[in-house]
Amino acid sequence: MNHKEIAQKFLDFFKSKGHTIIPSASLIPENDPTVLFTTAGMHPLVPFLLGQPHPGGKRLVDNQKSLRTDDIEEVGDAVHHTFFFMLGNWSLGDYFKKEAIEWSHEFLTDKKWLGLDKKRIAVSCFAGDKDAPKDEEAASVWRKLGIPESRIAFLPKKDNWWGPAGATGPCGPDTEMFYWSPNTPAPEKFDSKDKRWVEIWNDVFMQYSKNQDATFTPLKQKNVDTGMGLERACAVLQGFDDNYKTELFAPIIAKLEHLSNKKYGSSPAVTLSMRIIADHVRASVFVLAENKVTPSNVEQGYVLRRLLRRSVRHLRELGINISVEAGGVSVQKGCMKGLAEIVIDIYRNECPELEKNRGFIINEINSEQFKFMQTIEHGIAKFEQILSEKKAISATDAFLLYQSFGFPLEMTAELAKERGITVDKQEFEKEFEKHQELSRKGAEQKFKSGLADHSEKTIKLHTATHLLHAALRKIVGPNATQKGSNITPERLRFDFNSPEKLTPEQLKQVEALVNEVISQGIEVQREEMTMDQAKKAGALGLFESKYGEKVSVYTIGTFSKEICTGPHVKNTREIGKFRIQKEESIAAGVRRIKAVIE
Ligand code: SER
Repeated sequence: MNHKEIAQKFLDFFKSKGHTIIPSASLIPENDPTVLFTTAGMHPLVPFLLGQPHPGGKRLVDNQKSLRTDDIEEVGDAVHHTFFFMLGNWSLGDYFKKEAIEWSHEFLTDKKWLGLDKKRIAVSCFAGDKDAPKDEEAASVWRKLGIPESRIAFLPKKDNWWGPAGATGPCGPDTEMFYWSPNTPAPEKFDSKDKRWVEIWNDVFMQYSKNQDATFTPLKQKNVDTGMGLERACAVLQGFDDNYKTELFAPIIAKLEHLSNKKYGSSPAVTLSMRIIADHVRASVFVLAENKVTPSNVEQGYVLRRLLRRSVRHLRELGINISVEAGGVSVQKGCMKGLAEIVIDIYRNECPELEKNRGFIINEINSEQFKFMQTIEHGIAKFEQILSEKKAISATDAFLLYQSFGFPLEMTAELAKERGITVDKQEFEKEFEKHQELSRKGAEQKFKSGLADHSEKTIKLHTATHLLHAALRKIVGPNATQKGSNITPERLRFDFNSPEKLTPEQLKQVEALVNEVISQGIEVQREEMTMDQAKKAGALGLFESKYGEKVSVYTIGTFSKEICTGPHVKNTREIGKFRIQKEESIAAGVRRIKAVIE
């Protein structure tokens, strides 16, 4: 069964159980205060997990593009990825443990669906602690389905609890399903530490809300959030113990074997490099396919740069000669580019955004490779020079390499590790923090904390963003439409189309207009309608592809009407005083406004 068939079966199965199929949300969330990337299927659904009605109803199913960089270091084993597809079924205050587990079991084992061998399945459930009891409820459903006691493990929060995505919010115990995929009989007893038991699916029972003071309150709306990694499911069903052997990665690996003249699996180092390249190039292609981000030193652009540069470094590790020759022509011209083409071809039919942005993706990858090749030559030479002089690399040296040569700190750390030199981690981290420009730290923080919370402040800023958007279109002109939006609890950031810098007068007018609407105390109304109806009603909708059949439309009097997931304040008066802090250019024809509420 290939990945397309597996994904289709998943959607069909849950459709047959009354779920609405919703499309994957964008990998780069808009209007989402605290995540750089969608890291799990639950992120785009947080408002609905918290009680807002979803236009698709209470049962949803999707195949969500996800990107996680908090375990970028894990990439290189057989089953971890930065970018992956997560199949998920959702109950928004509808069914709970019994149905969720029974359906997981049916989908995995029934011949009509995946038809996996029941004798190779093991599960884990939450062991219980001071915050919540042992999940006997989940375990008893498994027992009834015939899973023997020896294959049920009870594990603590660190293993069997999911969320909240941030400091506070919905969370709960989970039950995880493992599959013994080697071609040997599965041991009678489940040992969660034995890596041959591969986790393939996680059913989270979001029945608590974590509070600021780290206590847990039972939620009124009990939700189910499940996540099955498509790549892992694919490997298991194809009898592989390695995701990179599936059709999702094999063509990239084959190309790398050809270029390097080395066999995948011939040594741990070769395997590691090939996996890292295959994973990172694939992730980069999907990020670029959103056509919103290019490699840079901040936020998503920084992650993208790191993925691409790390790939280039591992190409070198494999001995693939991509050094830059005079005139910027590489010896094996367009090496990264060739790999990216393969990824686009794999997903040509399923993910039209890849094909549509092929030119852009290839261009960006090529140009980043070129830039990095120049950087790397200088940086490595300097690294070797410092090492031969001092026999050590200090955090300050690492910084010199970064600042003078743009040589990434991670690369210095990796090179040092390979040479068996230890770098003082604490000192290193101090340097990281000192470095203002580089937002890696901030970026990672965001990954870790995920969607921190829909705090009052961010909700206010979110509604203020709609007002700003409407005000800009009134004052600057109807073409001043949204290009991007990013909200933290401190400020909003709004990118919009405008060929010219706004005059001080225009900025004052925009600010005054937003404050005027705020002071009018207008109700913010939410309605559900089809995309067509929304368009007819004149709603601004910029991200059509990420919504299902029905959408939510937020209306603020006659002033603003936008298709949006929410959440928003109930009345504009709640927002407070709006103040523009800065207006600047970020790209040709695109301006950025940063604003706060006071
Ligand atoms: N949120 C859970 C996870 O990401 C299940 O979807 O594993």
